[in-house]
Order: sequence, then C-alpha cells, then structure tokens
Amino acid sequence: MTSDLFDLTGRVALVTGGASGIGLGIARALSGAGASVVIGDLSGEAATRVAAELTADSGNPTLGLEADVTVAEEAEALVARCVSTFGGLDILVNNAGIGIHVRPEEMTMEQWDKNVSVNLRAVFHLSKIAYAHLCAGGGKIINIGSMYSIFGAGEVPAYAASKGGVVQLTKSLAIAWAEQNIQVNAILPGWINTGLGAQGRREMEGLNERVLARTPANRWGEPEDLAGTAIFLASGASSYVTGVSIPVDGGYSVT
Ligand code: NAI
Repeated sequence: MTSDLFDLTGRVALVTGGASGIGLGIARALSGAGASVVIGDLSGEAATRVAAELTADSGNPTLGLEADVTVAEEAEALVARCVSTFGGLDILVNNAGIGIHVRPEEMTMEQWDKNVSVNLRAVFHLSKIAYAHLCAGGGKIINIGSMYSIFGAGEVPAYAASKGGVVQLTKSLAIAWAEQNIQVNAILPGWINTGLGAQGRREMEGLNERVLARTPANRWGEPEDLAGTAIFLASGASSYVTGVSIPVDGGYSVT
C-alpha cells in the first residue's frame, strides 16, 4: 500500500538536461520507479546512450533526444515526441541549466541573456508547452533551483537571479494551475558532484573548502541524493504539496 504511493508505472516523464549529472540521476530514479522517460539534452549522443542504459537497468522504456530547450521548435518537438511515443506527458522535470561565471560589472548582456534563457525562460516555455498534456490526468512539474535561489552570488549574478526566479515561477504556476490538478514544486540542490560542480571548483577559488566547511553533512552531494525527493514530487505521495522549494543540501541552507 505504502509503496504504491510512489509507484510511477504508466506515467510519462520528460527530463531536460537528463544526459548527465543531476538530470541523469533524476531520470534514473523516475525510470526505476516505473515511469517511461524521455531525456532531452543538448548532446543527442549522450542522451541516446544513457537512455539505452536506463532501459536495460529498469526494464522501462527510455528515449534520448537531442534538443536545445532555448530553441522554441526544439522544445515543442520534445513534448510532441513524449506524446507520440508514450501517449502523453505526466511529469516535466525542468533540469537543464548552465552557470556563467562573470562578475556583474564585466558581464555582457549576451552572457546575461544566455544564462537566463536556459535557467528561467526555458523553464517557463517548457511548462507552457506541457500544460495541455499535464492537465489530462493530474500532472507534475519539478523545477531545479539552487542554493543561489536563496543566497546572492557576486561571482554568478545571472545564475543567481535566474535561480531565484525559478522559485517565484514555481509558486506562480502552482497557484495558476492548482485547479487543473497540476502540482508545481522545485528542488534546491546543495553542492552536487557533477560537471557543473566541477566547473564551480575550477572557476571559484576556495569553493571546495567553503562547501565542506558550511555543509553539516560534511561532503558534496551525489546525483543519487536527489532521487527520493524527485520520486516524491513526481508521485501521488505529493498530491497536496504544491508551490514549495525543497532544499536537498546536506543542511547547507540552514547554517
Ligand atoms: P551538468 O552540467 O552536469 O548537466 C547539465 C545538463 O544539461 C548537460 O547534460 C547539458 O548538456 C544539459 N544542457 C545544458 N544546456 C542545455 C540546453 N540549452 N538544452 C538542453 N540541455 C542542456 O549540470 P548539473 O550539475 O547536473 O546541473 C543540473 C541542474 O542542477 C542545473 O539546473 C543546475 O543549475 C542545477 N544545480 C546544480 C548544482 C550542482 O552543484 N551541481 C547545485 C544546484 C543546482
């Protein structure tokens, strides 16, 4: 009975940026819980490869597609492929994100637009495209924020602004679409060992020491650390949870 609450059998999930890192961890978790998963990523080669691995591991079908979430036609095609391949779309995970590390006085408007376009504009656009399908059987949107959804960051101002926006957009869509039985929530990861995490360590001096000193769990997170929260927010277990942003951060945000 309890395990049924988290069962995603028969549900269709789309994970953007799911070919690596946190997105891959979430795609693996949803697939393991029974969902059919579509991974849309800039790298079609990586998406196709990991989709085959997930299918072999879980026995549930997974499709990997090349798509840039900031290109309107490619975002639309992603959602259309979910529907044409698996018959619908129930769970949208807006995970694709980038971090441009430039101080505000040096940041060009092109850099600003690029960062905000991937991290915030595309989150809204994918949600809008998915809306009609999510209405069909009660849908879920999971947006991936950051510790910089909460804290400011002089080193990555556009990243922090876009991730702060993700939290407000999550609340607004939750209110707007509650009547359609769509729950919209966010996960705010702490410092996670991924390609982006490694980029942070390279570009932000002393980051590793800062993270370890401030994280009560005293370690970086792994993509698998987000699995349980993702399954919870994707499943019937969270049917009365909407508009919230859940830190999964080893305690970083409470220090
Ligand atoms: P990652 O760099 O390992 O993976 C990001 C994936 O997104 C890549 O596969 C990349 O190809 C894809 N991607 C990038 N731009 C795209 C686009 N325009 N269209 C489609 N796919 C695109 O990064 P990571 O760490 O897994 O990040 C995933 C999300 O988690 C991002 O939104 C990031 O901001 C967020 N996050 C990461 C943290 C960390 O410490 N690693 C901490 C907090 C949040």
